[in-house]
Amino acid sequence: MLPISDPHSPEKPKTPTKSSLDRKNSNSFSFSHIQTLIYHPRSCLILLILILQILILYASLSLPISTFSLHAPISVKSGGPNSTELCPDGRVYVYDIPEQFNKELLQNCDKLSPFGSRCGTFMNNGFGEKFTSVANVVPKSVVNAWYWTDQFALEIIFHDRMMNYKCRTMEPESATAFYIPFYAGLAVGKYLWSSNFTARDRDYHCEMILRWVREKPYFNRSSGWDHFITMGRITWDFRRSNDGDWGSKCIYLPEMRNISRLLIERNSWDYFDVGVPYPTGFHPSSANDVKIWQNFVNGRRRSTLYCFAGATRGFIKNDFRGLLLKQCYADSEKCRVVDCGGSKCSNRTAAILETFLSSDFCLQPRGDSFTRRSIFDCMVAGSIPVFFWKRTAYYQYEWFLPEEAGSYSVFIDRNEVENGTSIRSVLEKFSQEEVKKMRAKVVEYIPKLVYAKPNTGLKGMKDAFDIAVEGVLKRVKEREGGYKWK
Ligand SMILES: *[C@@H]1O[C@H](CO)[C@@H](O)[C@H](O)[C@H]1NC(C)=O
Ligand SMILES: *[C@@H]1O[C@H](CO)[C@@H](O)[C@H](O)[C@H]1NC(C)=O
Ligand SMILES: *[C@@H]1O[C@H](CO)[C@@H](O)[C@H](O)[C@H]1NC(C)=O
Ligand SMILES: *[C@@H]1O[C@H](CO)[C@@H](O)[C@H](O)[C@H]1NC(C)=O
Ligand SMILES: *[C@@H]1O[C@H](CO)[C@@H](O)[C@H](O)[C@H]1NC(C)=O
Ligand SMILES: *[C@@H]1O[C@H](CO)[C@@H](O)[C@H](O)[C@H]1NC(C)=O
Repeated sequence: MLPISDPHSPEKPKTPTKSSLDRKNSNSFSFSHIQTLIYHPRSCLILLILILQILILYASLSLPISTFSLHAPISVKSGGPNSTELCPDGRVYVYDIPEQFNKELLQNCDKLSPFGSRCGTFMNNGFGEKFTSVANVVPKSVVNAWYWTDQFALEIIFHDRMMNYKCRTMEPESATAFYIPFYAGLAVGKYLWSSNFTARDRDYHCEMILRWVREKPYFNRSSGWDHFITMGRITWDFRRSNDGDWGSKCIYLPEMRNISRLLIERNSWDYFDVGVPYPTGFHPSSANDVKIWQNFVNGRRRSTLYCFAGATRGFIKNDFRGLLLKQCYADSEKCRVVDCGGSKCSNRTAAILETFLSSDFCLQPRGDSFTRRSIFDCMVAGSIPVFFWKRTAYYQYEWFLPEEAGSYSVFIDRNEVENGTSIRSVLEKFSQEEVKKMRAKVVEYIPKLVYAKPNTGLKGMKDAFDIAVEGVLKRVKEREGGYKWK
């Protein structure tokens, strides 16, 4: 659940340590999920059942079966549900970009990071290796849905899912939106830390792909505003103003101006930045997996009022996290700390998941950046997040979270904490009924916070991918209807 391949991130790491990285290598990397099928007969069975269901459906619609292919977008002929019904928000065209911008980056996964190979990290369609140590913690029937997923794996997960998306079109003329499957975060990852690399190195891939895309008629036609991209790191990694500063200047390149960018942390004041959930370790194959999980987290006996999981080392005296930790340690009866300092949590321990599953609330302060992967780990475990900055979630993930902040989370003004307000006293004011209600809301939203296994998604349920793509399609349509460019 919590592979923190770099425990400093998503904050800007100052001194990443070699030991903090997932260095487990794997040569069994595969871009498609064929591998998953071979190694996991269970997936095979699920796929078989799926195919059978589809065949039955198609037979009942008296459609020629030959029109169907698992990997091609579903083409609907007369007699079936028509295209508007299947994809009311329109369809997505996926650019076939040169492999150096995605596939080759992955094939060179051993060179993606200066700290060691990322091959194991990004195997299984970006989900990473199986997270086997959850076996004693989660229901048997969903153990297979758990992976040791890296927080920066969004681009791969998203791309893979898109290839099988029901509303993908092969004809650009019929597309509402255009997806550029460039792995922007993977491309820049290895250049971020080393002083051996120049600003030019960090910008290279982004500049080249934009040069490629701007020659395309559909980009030119719309000045890019019906185009979108995923960027699996925080927005600040792509917003360098001066050559000597951190990151690439990808987002500041002129062609990027009107492209919608799906990021794990957005700049809340940029309309074209869209915050999407960090990948967690839970990747259900079916709506049934989700339901089993929801029942499980709902029924948990939670023995701890609140908890804090994160790196605790090196907090300077007045660091806000230091304040929270101090309260938590002093209140050991009600609060549990999981110290992930150094590389303590990168050994595939289920300790964090177990802690979230056992706590009513989880504390989610900001770090050097506003967001943390932990927000999603916490909520997927049915724990109620406690925020101290509005930008940690409320101004980030609006498409994915309930509109009313108080319905699923607690907000405590950080100044009050600095003034000595006890977290415990705030949290204890909520009645059991209120806690139950908030938890129900968190649990209701779990599907929207997770990335399903790449096939056709969760039947009858929308996951984070569905919500993100539909959101992009809707905003493109809004603007077609005369919505003014901002
Ligand atoms: C498809 O369905 C929509 C909504 O039911 C309807 O308005 C439209 O006319 C249909 N189009 C075709 C080509 O049948
Ligand atoms: C930087 O380059 C030097 C000389 O090529 C090399 O010895 C060193 O390992 C490099 N450092 C990093 C962090 O890549
Ligand atoms: C893009 O469009 C502009 C005018 O709309 C045109 O002048 C230019 O040549 C086009 N560029 C390409 C690469 O098609
Ligand atoms: C962005 O869109 C606006 C409005 O359509 C257009 O005027 C502008 O030139 C576009 N910017 C770029 C860099 O294409
Ligand atoms: C991981 O490390 C923690 C603390 O260092 C330890 O308690 C735990 O047993 C380890 N877990 C595994 C699966 O090795
Ligand atoms: C914190 O304390 C200071 C000084 O006593 C006071 O001015 C401020 O209003 C307090 N802030 C909050 C949020 O309670």
